[in-house]
Amino acid sequence: MTSITLKGQAAIVTGSSSGIGKAIALALGKAGADVLVNYHGHAEEGEQVAEDIRAMGVKSIAIKADVSKENDVNEMFDQALKTFGRIDIVVSNSGIQKDSPLVDMTLDQWNQVINVNLTGAFLCARRAAQEFRRQGIDTSISKAAGKLIFMSSVHEVIPWGGHCNYAASKGGMMLFMKSISQELAPHKIRVNSIGPGAIQTSINKEVWTDNESKEKLLELIPYGRIGLPEDVGKVAVWLASDEADYVNGTTIFVDGGMTLYPEFADNG
Ligand code: BGC
Repeated sequence: MTSITLKGQAAIVTGSSSGIGKAIALALGKAGADVLVNYHGHAEEGEQVAEDIRAMGVKSIAIKADVSKENDVNEMFDQALKTFGRIDIVVSNSGIQKDSPLVDMTLDQWNQVINVNLTGAFLCARRAAQEFRRQGIDTSISKAAGKLIFMSSVHEVIPWGGHCNYAASKGGMMLFMKSISQELAPHKIRVNSIGPGAIQTSINKEVWTDNESKEKLLELIPYGRIGLPEDVGKVAVWLASDEADYVNGTTIFVDGGMTLYPEFADNG
């Protein structure tokens, strides 16, 4: 395969002070892109990721923003434009879980998850699309006017009892992604999602640090291992590159086969 370069391109990755977002920010930097590292609560970690990316010889800044707040998102984009002069890749990655059975779920738990996971995606997508359309295509940089990548989940298709707010946010994200991809493809803006399965990050730490829960989780993964953030980082680089120029409005699952309904392998 041709080695991928994103040289001359600038990216924003939301929620990139840790986990999947961090791996994506580092992978984009390694591929030659300038990267805005966004964090909400973890300033020190965010600054460190930006420093690590700068050490790769590209530009990087860390910016605090709550993606569920319109002003924060707009200021973050303004900072990216001020620093990099352009925006080519936006990875809307920030996501949270506030788990509870339906009967006990508070409105606050519901709202927090929808606000960050779904409204955050909307706010980032809207501004990204405005900038991509304004910027237009420069074929010396990329065949597309811009690339938008959402961090979805296997739970955009797999129902998840005890996590209905999260599953609703990701299911909603799927049709949001597809609808705007239909709108934006004629403007040469590519919109896609990545649907990670169980990736070892702080969001599911409780599960992979406990042996019994880990064994149970592994039964759901035909490929027999829990994913690493880097597994997702590599796919994001490819999806953001011209190698994926004909990929529009789809979700790429990075899940070791979790979406294959493994319980049916010897049942049903
Ligand atoms: C969730 C994780 C979970 C994985 C597989 C992800 O979207 O954030 O907590 O382990 O899906 O169920």
